[in-house]
Amino acid sequence: MRTLMTIKTLAKVCAQSSAGKWPAIAIAVLVIMASSHRAIAQSSDARHFSKDVYAELSKAPKKAVARRNPLAEDPDAVIAGGKLFEQHCAECHGDMADGGKKGPSLRADQVQQSTPGALFWLLTNGVVRRGMPVWSKLPEPQRWQLVSYIKSLSPAAQPSSNSDKPAHP
Ligand code: HEC
Repeated sequence: MRTLMTIKTLAKVCAQSSAGKWPAIAIAVLVIMASSHRAIAQSSDARHFSKDVYAELSKAPKKAVARRNPLAEDPDAVIAGGKLFEQHCAECHGDMADGGKKGPSLRADQVQQSTPGALFWLLTNGVVRRGMPVWSKLPEPQRWQLVSYIKSLSPAAQPSSNSDKPAHP
């Protein structure tokens, strides 16, 4: 928070100075401020996880990527998957799947744009060296239910009690 204060002061100084490029710099600083506010206001993943935290998903073999979710048309699968998520995943990925202390958000584009097959492959294999367990002991239908649940999530979790959210058009 102290850095934010410093940036704010800096922005003020910049804004007061009317010389040439200062206004542009001030705007840049404000944009940086706004985005860092947003990162803090949103989930915790931005603070804890590197950008390539989802890289493993892109390593799924083609055949796995192309697999279809046999439960895709089954609305109960999402509900069942939600319960499984609570039991097995929420402790790391957060109750809302928007990221927790140990696991990144599953609402991120990289996850949402992955095919059901790629997600199923990831659950089956885990990313053990990076702290994501293997779920091959869960029966296949349960893994597909989890995939259905993940796919049902909207991109951004509704912030539960955060009034600090900046207005975005
Ligand atoms: C012990 C903590 C933990 C639990 C429990 C856990 N995860 Fe993860 N998960 C992680 C971590 C850490 C990562 C990031 C791994 C990496 O760096 O690739 C991750 C990543 C993922 C990803 C993103 C794929 C990627 O490339 O890393 C998905 C999807 C995922 N988890 C789904 C689940 C589901 C579904 C469950 C419940 C069945 C679950 N996780 C349970 C810790 C956990």
